[in-house]
Amino acid sequence: MHFNYLKFEKRDKIGILTLNRPEALNALNEGVFKELACFLSSKEIIQSIRVLVITGEGKAFVAGADIKAMQEYSPQAAYDFSEIGKQVFDQIANLEIPVIAAINGFALGGGLELALSCDIRVASEKARLGLPEVNLGLIPGFNGTQRLPRLAGAGNAMYLMMLGEGITAGEAYQLGIVQKLAPPETLLEVSLELAEKVASKGPNAVKLIKVMVRKGLELPGKDAGKMESKEFGRLFKEDQSEREEGISAFLEKRKPNW
Ligand code: HXC
Repeated sequence: MHFNYLKFEKRDKIGILTLNRPEALNALNEGVFKELACFLSSKEIIQSIRVLVITGEGKAFVAGADIKAMQEYSPQAAYDFSEIGKQVFDQIANLEIPVIAAINGFALGGGLELALSCDIRVASEKARLGLPEVNLGLIPGFNGTQRLPRLAGAGNAMYLMMLGEGITAGEAYQLGIVQKLAPPETLLEVSLELAEKVASKGPNAVKLIKVMVRKGLELPGKDAGKMESKEFGRLFKEDQSEREEGISAFLEKRKPNW
């Protein structure tokens, strides 16, 4: 697969996807979305890794949607762009394996929305995050108005979106938007270590956790709880060798082999 705006590398069971349009701070345009959609649909790649890490080339993770491209948009084109981006970010949110955002620098607008669609966020201590659309007379359009309040609460989301000023990685960590901080020079290393830890756990259990959390957020609490019990029960069916191996390994005082 050849890409103009992406780089992909595999390190054992971890995939590293790098947004590679540094001259525009990795701004998202239709070309970037097309390539992302194509990459994320590649079953062969996704099934060959256990965790995907997404990061950016240069000083930005992603500085947002491409402002130059948006200047000429008609209402229909703007709607379509919002939908295209949303579909791609939903592909990330619904990808069967966990996705970690390694936020190496600016994660603004669509860039933060990309990070929000990932499952876990690690950020460089020097990164800056925000939803500055309001400065352009815009609103977030790739589900940021929906994902941020679910992650950080409505008050924090309103604050970030209405002021449009951006916050430091440390502040984002305090708000729970970012789960881990790392010095800029070791961000990738720290993110890969985290990815490896996740990759060493029961792979189906990890996938199931992602589904439970994602689906559960869309359901009334009672239904979400029922769904969890059903899935928990299903893990005890006879063909669930992962559970068998995990429990046996614990009782035999050895590492599980899955
Ligand atoms: C297009 C962008 C860009 C963007 C930066 N560049 N951000 N191009 N779209 N979002 C380009 C600059 O024009 C410049 O190109 C080059 O990248 C380097 O950027 P500089 O501004 O020179 O860098 P710096 O001074 O370090 O400032 C970094 C920055 C600033 C603070 C991140 O670039 C910035 O404020 N960018 C815009 C951030 C933003 O508003 N994002 C939200 C977009 S709206 P040249 O050619 O001059 O070298 C959005 C909506 C999503 O995301 C929903 C859509 C449906």
